[in-house]
Amino acid sequence: MADPVIDQVRLGAQGPLVGVQGLGCMGMSEFYGATDESAARETLDTALERGVTLLDTADIYGRGANEEFLAPFVAAHRDEITIATKFAVDRSAGDERRMVRNDPAYIRQAVEGSLRRLGVDVIDLYYMHRRDPAVPLAESVGAMGELVERGLVRHLGLSEVTGAELREAHAVHPIAALQSEWSLFSRDVERSAVGAAAELGVAFVPYSPLGRGFLTGAFADAGTDLGTDDFRRYQPRFTGENAAANAALLKPVHEIAAARGATAAQVALAWVQQRAEVHGLAVVPIPGTRKPSRLRENVAATGLHLDAEELAALEPIADRVAGDRYPDMSTTSAARE
Ligand SMILES: NC(=O)c1ccc[n+]([C@@H]2O[C@H](COP(=O)([O-])OP(=O)(O)OC[C@H]3O[C@@H](n4cnc5c(N)ncnc54)[C@H](OP(=O)(O)O)[C@@H]3O)[C@@H](O)[C@H]2O)c1
Repeated sequence: MADPVIDQVRLGAQGPLVGVQGLGCMGMSEFYGATDESAARETLDTALERGVTLLDTADIYGRGANEEFLAPFVAAHRDEITIATKFAVDRSAGDERRMVRNDPAYIRQAVEGSLRRLGVDVIDLYYMHRRDPAVPLAESVGAMGELVERGLVRHLGLSEVTGAELREAHAVHPIAALQSEWSLFSRDVERSAVGAAAELGVAFVPYSPLGRGFLTGAFADAGTDLGTDDFRRYQPRFTGENAAANAALLKPVHEIAAARGATAAQVALAWVQQRAEVHGLAVVPIPGTRKPSRLRENVAATGLHLDAEELAALEPIADRVAGDRYPDMSTTSAARE
């Protein structure tokens, strides 16, 4: 018998129906070390078979290479998938001089590049990846709304904005989805963004729901040997004493996993799904993987329901995490709250 297909949920009031779990495609091109391309392509096929239809990319992943990598899959399954991409991080002057760009001229130029690399006429969900507070939000969201009017984009999303920013943007043009980091290790979004999204009917798309892999237990040894092409070697939570302290925090995750015959990754995914439901939010976590077996494992977490005692055991973890979620937090929503 074929594996069951996951349920669907709508992104925002008028957005697309997508599987309740999406797929983060970033690691297929950059940031987490070498990729086996054929396994990554097989992962995309497996995702679609299981009803995982929201594919997440951004123009900066691999400097456009991730969008290009996805293009053949998107072409082959255009009507079955929802392709989401993002603009706002300008790497053209080199990574030492990355800039956040929200000005309308940049937005109009960025969308053309993403359309070309993805090989599509229209982007299903177009996110502002980071916010530049120097540009009035209404100006940027107004420019994004014009892309919808021009038929280049179907729905709008924001990433790493505060609750107040989400409200302001939504008043300019309906926002279908807010994508921000949310996991057992990263709960700062619960301060304002989560409540605002619930109130406005904006879906939440938790990124790095596995804590960039840390929550799977794969980084149990302090100083885990990460290659120079793995940017986690610069992430405060993955390095030195922080890594050891954070690995110790996973004890209840492993205990629950063992008791349930599940994996730590599945417990982490079930947690974020249920945490969103508590807030009455439509939620579509986008765990990133390049391996079909992990895709199947992650999808199976949609059927895991943690009980009150298990949730209580997981509750204290985030407050005890050592290290910020980025080496430089200045462009995150947390910096503006
Ligand atoms: N909006 C933003 O600013 C932003 C920032 C970061 C990421 N994102 C998006 O969010 C997506 C997901 O986040 P993420 O990739 O950073 O982190 P994540 O989903 O928390 O973790 C991904 C890592 O976990 C590993 N993994 C996945 N499933 C696993 C399993 N079942 N068992 C063991 N290891 C597993 C992956 O390795 P393998 O790939 O080798 O399986 C990868 O190293 C990205 O792909 C990207 O699309 C958005």
